[in-house]
Amino acid sequence: MDRSGKSVIVTGAGSGMGRAVSKRFAERGKRVACVDVDADAAEETAVRIERDGGDSLAIEADVSRATDVETMVERTIEAFGRIDVLHNNAGIPQRATPVEDVSADEWDRILDVNLKSAFLGAKYALPHLRRSGGVILNTASTAAIRPRTGLSAYVASKGGMVALTKQLAYELAPDVRVNALCPVATDTPMLTGFAGGDLSVEGMQETIPLGRLAEPDDVAAAAIFLASDDAAMITGTALEVDGGRDI
Ligand SMILES: NC(=O)c1ccc[n+]([C@@H]2O[C@H](COP(=O)([O-])OP(=O)(O)OC[C@H]3O[C@@H](n4cnc5c(N)ncnc54)[C@H](O)[C@@H]3O)[C@@H](O)[C@H]2O)c1
Repeated sequence: MDRSGKSVIVTGAGSGMGRAVSKRFAERGKRVACVDVDADAAEETAVRIERDGGDSLAIEADVSRATDVETMVERTIEAFGRIDVLHNNAGIPQRATPVEDVSADEWDRILDVNLKSAFLGAKYALPHLRRSGGVILNTASTAAIRPRTGLSAYVASKGGMVALTKQLAYELAPDVRVNALCPVATDTPMLTGFAGGDLSVEGMQETIPLGRLAEPDDVAAAAIFLASDDAAMITGTALEVDGGRDI
């Protein structure tokens, strides 16, 4: 148990992986700012953490908006006084659609929520992360490595996330480590949001050699490792949590 009062920001903390990651950090003694555009969902995660004896704060923010992200950082500092880990995890899916039918507005929204958010998070949290010798985690996807049909905007956003991770890891070393997580299809409310056309959840599962979808806790375990001192020599990596999908 870490009793040093370290603090973590997790975006998209109201559901799926973000909730699982938030709970795991709290179980290890971190104070957790649970951030979500869905205020009730963020609150629910924070309440669960407090009920289990942890220390948390719910923050409503749309991570695609610069003012919201700046406020998210300010509120975390007001509450906890420091930021040790920023986990840019919030994201939205793309229903599988032929590229010629994707609207420009949908493209922009997916890139803003899934990629611009990580730039904004780093931009505003960086002074605090430099002070703490902190860590950035970015949730990308196996989509960045092995595209699936009909996911042009989503794949571009996650490919960008991996590239941004490597750029920041290089640019911020040795002060701040930056790594990405690349989960395969994971059993969260988002998953069915991808299905459409030729893409189904069953079809995605069939492409995973270990024979099952990932669980949020699989991803949370990897996040805890990358944020820990056990990963002190790891920066700029995109860790596949994929049951072998990317072999
Ligand atoms: N589920 C999968 O199959 C899968 C696979 C690989 C990667 N991912 C990625 O993992 C991350 C977490 O996804 P999940 O599966 O847990 O999804 P989820 O839908 O269960 O949770 C996503 C959370 O992000 C929040 N969110 C959405 N837009 C937001 C915004 N603009 N600002 C703040 N919060 C916002 C939602 O309200 C929700 O609580 C995402 O980045 C997703 O792209 C998911």
